[in-house]
Amino acid sequence: MDNFEFRCPTKIIFGAGSIEKIKNEIPHDKKILITYGGGSIRKNGVLKQVKEALNGFNYSEFGGIEPNPKFETLMDAVTMVKEGGYDFLLAVGGGSVLDGTKFIAAASKFEGDPWDILAKGAQINDALELADVITLPATGSEMNCGAVISRISTKEKFAFMSEKVYPKFSIIDPQTTFSLPEKQTVNGIVDTFTHVMEQYATYDVDTPLQDQWALGIIKTLLEEGPKVLKDPQNYNARANIFWCATCGLNYWISLGAVQDWSTHMIGHELTALYGLDHGETLAIILPSLWRIMKKDKMDKLAKMAIEVYGANEFLPKSLLADITIKKTEKFFHKIGRKTKLKEYNINPKEAAVEIKKRFNQRGTILGERGNITPDVAYEIVVNA
Ligand code: NZQ
Ligand code: ZN
Repeated sequence: MDNFEFRCPTKIIFGAGSIEKIKNEIPHDKKILITYGGGSIRKNGVLKQVKEALNGFNYSEFGGIEPNPKFETLMDAVTMVKEGGYDFLLAVGGGSVLDGTKFIAAASKFEGDPWDILAKGAQINDALELADVITLPATGSEMNCGAVISRISTKEKFAFMSEKVYPKFSIIDPQTTFSLPEKQTVNGIVDTFTHVMEQYATYDVDTPLQDQWALGIIKTLLEEGPKVLKDPQNYNARANIFWCATCGLNYWISLGAVQDWSTHMIGHELTALYGLDHGETLAIILPSLWRIMKKDKMDKLAKMAIEVYGANEFLPKSLLADITIKKTEKFFHKIGRKTKLKEYNINPKEAAVEIKKRFNQRGTILGERGNITPDVAYEIVVNA
């Protein structure tokens, strides 16, 4: 196992009826800015619950943060924060709202051009306090310190990480997810599945506990995913899916293990270029990436075939790895998710050429062994 350090300062407040507990967590002297997206929280009553909990507090609202939150919109919020003297941000919505709010928190205190946080990985020395009511199980953003932001003008999508943007607390009330459109529920399941795989399906450095956590999340997704799709009001299934999503990217399963975020990095390009949802891009790239990189990932994919998909342990490893790839694709299809670029009317060759060009320009090299060069990324995309 590799060395690691870990500290997560986020308080998780989980369960039905938790939104009212916000009032116990934010000091009364704070000037709060509630941030949200396109209006789902108005329709499903979540905003009303938040406002009831904040009765007597000093707060205003900033709405309109888009899915794949846009730098341009977030900078409007930064102006509002600075002019209004807000000192606490409360994100209410999905991962995009929370990621956007993490960026607002950092950019509001940043000296210089905030785009550097994303494009140049500039150091973040300070950020506003933030917390959230998360309404979509997918990103794990409620218990991690990452965020992914897009820029319309340049069609770019970049991630940043900073310990300064861990939420102070996260309210996870699974009831808020009853209103999710099916497509978003599926996005969340695929995103969580892929997060787990980016931290598990690499090479083995003897991390059996982390591996079992990872595969436990996958087994739970395989069982609970179809349940929520069949019965969207199934509270326990919704709760289990949510906790899978949170634990899928709160870093526990990657501690001391080897990670590979290539599927995400290539997927981000597909979102930036074609506007596909994050969860759509992952179901396209993951199986293709596994096929091209099978030799590197063989041991872990074989182990997954035995432990998750019930394959015979005496089969050759290569065959076991194929079983994992095929069964995973089958699961994505079962929950109604396409796995090919052509199914979205995207020409794989065109996409591959553009992504290779971008990776060459940026010097992007991916993969846990640093061997996914722009040429290999081309192969992955052209076969996706
Ligand atoms: O904008 P509103 O009206 O709120 O509607 C949203 C949005 O249209 C809707 N929605 C959210 N909760 C709902 C709901 N509709 C009904 N009922 C609810 N309870 O769902 C739509 C999608 O929301 P979004 O926040 O974009 O989805 P998600 O949570 O999947 O976030 C995706 C973003 O997270 C980034 C992705 O790149 C993408 O930009 N990621 C962030 C990560 C992180 N912070 O660690 C890691 C991930 O890998 C991911 O990259
Ligand atoms: Zn993701």
